[in-house]
Amino acid sequence: MSSFNFLVSFFVFLFPVSVTCQTLAYCRYPLSCGAGEPQIRFPFSLDGRQSKACGDSGFDLSCNSSNRTVLQLPYSGQFFVQDINYTSREMKIYDPDNCLPKRLLNLRLPQSNPYKLAGLSQDYTFFNCSSSSLDVANVSSSYSPISCMSSTTHTILVTNISNLNVPLNSSCKLIVTVSAPVVRTVDGLSYKISDVVLLQWQLLPDRSQGTKMTEVVYALLGLCFALVLILAFTCCICPWVIGMFRDHHRSVFLSDGILLHSIDTNHEAIVIRTGLDDATIKSYQRIILDEKLKLPNPNDTTCSICLSEYRSTETLKIIPPPCNHYFHAKCIDPWLRMHTTCPVCRKPLQPSVLLLAVDAF
Ligand SMILES: *[C@@H]1O[C@H](CO)[C@@H](O)[C@H](O)[C@H]1NC(C)=O
Ligand SMILES: *[C@@H]1O[C@H](CO)[C@@H](O)[C@H](O)[C@H]1NC(C)=O
Ligand SMILES: *[C@@H]1O[C@H](CO)[C@@H](O)[C@H](O)[C@H]1NC(C)=O
Ligand SMILES: *[C@@H]1O[C@H](CO)[C@@H](O)[C@H](O)[C@H]1NC(C)=O
Ligand SMILES: *[C@@H]1O[C@H](CO)[C@@H](O)[C@H](O)[C@H]1NC(C)=O
Ligand SMILES: *[C@@H]1O[C@H](CO)[C@@H](O)[C@H](O)[C@H]1NC(C)=O
Ligand SMILES: *[C@@H]1O[C@H](CO)[C@@H](O)[C@H](O)[C@H]1NC(C)=O
Repeated sequence: MSSFNFLVSFFVFLFPVSVTCQTLAYCRYPLSCGAGEPQIRFPFSLDGRQSKACGDSGFDLSCNSSNRTVLQLPYSGQFFVQDINYTSREMKIYDPDNCLPKRLLNLRLPQSNPYKLAGLSQDYTFFNCSSSSLDVANVSSSYSPISCMSSTTHTILVTNISNLNVPLNSSCKLIVTVSAPVVRTVDGLSYKISDVVLLQWQLLPDRSQGTKMTEVVYALLGLCFALVLILAFTCCICPWVIGMFRDHHRSVFLSDGILLHSIDTNHEAIVIRTGLDDATIKSYQRIILDEKLKLPNPNDTTCSICLSEYRSTETLKIIPPPCNHYFHAKCIDPWLRMHTTCPVCRKPLQPSVLLLAVDAF
């Protein structure tokens, strides 16, 4: 195969195939936003560096300009990803502004979301108090201020108690009660609101496309390599193999009845199958048709060679059994001089073979 043909097939077939292969293989490489950031691989995809098709839907992560891994939750906004555990299917996320309690007020993980809260959690109730009417030092120890949410005019208090009758200044307004992730305090005796949220992603039945997707990617990869192999074989190896085969067993019909046959690499034979000899042709039975046109086979009324009907006084020639076909003698004689078969049934007649040994070309 010429290099031009190879180039053409490369660009027509191999190039798109290899690009597809690379794209698919690219999905398999774990990525990361930067040093110390978690590895990102299936079911996640990294926006801007990978096709979203590399991951499952709802599992796209991105990198911020400072090489931080960013998770965008549809209702709750952006979080940074601290850690991903692919075994337990858990990820730790934190607030970019380090004020998780504030984010918890708006954290919503609807059913359609693959993530669920994991780890320890506790209900906390938030209060918004006017700073002017509240002496923080004087509040019950059950309430703790959240400094990152408080301003000069308002203090935000949070409590884990369910009995909200513990005295609190009436100027305080209840904001909301939410389930918040907690960690043990240093003394190990109690809990406090954590700085990170532990999320676990689900492999619900309707999300089993996750595993199917992996299989599809692997299947496509396999298909790619198979295609490359087939193309390589068709383009390069196959013609070579055929060439080898042809060189050793060359056997070519030069024209009807003449066969060029290789004997070995240096010699070839021209096998010329000529027609029948005159004696054989003359020996075939002849009949002359009379006025009644009594034909050997009443259904066969036309000569298959000249395609004209048999008429009285014409001479027919009958090819002996097992053939038994008949023709105008003037039509079949030239045929028999060049062929060794009946033109209708193709049954072989006694051939006379001429074998010529010649040097290979
Ligand atoms: C990326 O994260 C860093 C570190 O928190 C932050 O300073 C920066 O503003 C973030 N950039 C964007 C574009 O969010
Ligand atoms: C982000 O990471 C790239 C290499 O991955 C590095 O060249 C670049 O300086 C990093 N940027 C920041 C802001 O750390
Ligand atoms: C991931 O979670 C599994 C199971 O909970 C645990 O055995 C493993 O140590 C965790 N890996 C990391 C790196 O934390
Ligand atoms: C607390 O209440 C004040 C006045 O209603 C409001 O301006 C402020 O945003 C509130 N703070 C929070 C965190 O809800
Ligand atoms: C509660 O607020 C009122 C003003 O509204 C103030 O006089 C009182 O001292 C406050 N009590 C506490 C315990 O802070
Ligand atoms: C607040 O402090 C004052 C004294 O500074 C005290 O009399 C009052 O009982 C305290 N109120 C509460 C609710 O602890
Ligand atoms: C509530 O939090 C306090 C510390 O702020 C802790 O001592 C107490 O045990 C917690 N209560 C519950 C029911 O966990």
